[in-house]
Amino acid sequence: MISKEITNKFRLGMRKFVYSVSVVSNRHEDEINAITVSSVTSVSLDPPSVVVSINRQSSIHPSLISDSLFCINMLTADQQEIAAICSDSKQSDERAKHFEFGDEDVPILTNAFLNIICRVDQIFQYHSHSLVVGTVQDVKSLENQESLIYQNGNYKVLPKSY
Ligand SMILES: Cc1cc2nc3c(=O)[nH]c(=O)nc-3n(C[C@H](O)[C@H](O)[C@H](O)COP(=O)(O)O)c2cc1C
Repeated sequence: MISKEITNKFRLGMRKFVYSVSVVSNRHEDEINAITVSSVTSVSLDPPSVVVSINRQSSIHPSLISDSLFCINMLTADQQEIAAICSDSKQSDERAKHFEFGDEDVPILTNAFLNIICRVDQIFQYHSHSLVVGTVQDVKSLENQESLIYQNGNYKVLPKSY
């Protein structure tokens, strides 16, 4: 049994990491779902794959089913408002209008720093969260942007690198 003290020290410790902020989006039937995340990481290059940790209580969770498409939209500094909307359950009706459809049947944020279009390959349930592993179908990228990052409970801007 892990004590509340260790859980609290861990929670505070994790606030020190510098996170890149992304929005995971998908379409299920006529609904566009989107959730702000910091838990994206690459898994392998062969196959090109990513993993993201998704709370099982979140509204997007039931639609992240095997073989379905989703997009990881890595945000620029100009997209802080979208991050706020997609992390506030009271603003779920405000999300869909920010997304567009490209060649694939998945909603994307067209001005994101990076769009990684993925197909769900594996889902590992771990207590409150699911680790969703996606294989990469396509990547769209902008250059010369400022990244939106998150540390210590606050959004910040990472200046452009050249
Ligand atoms: C910077 C930031 C990062 C987040 N990262 C994650 C994450 O990796 N996984 C997750 O399930 N929720 C994460 N959240 C919380 C969800 O965005 C939030 O609970 C959201 O409201 C859930 O979606 P829903 O309102 O549609 O249920 C994060 C929130 C913020 C502000």
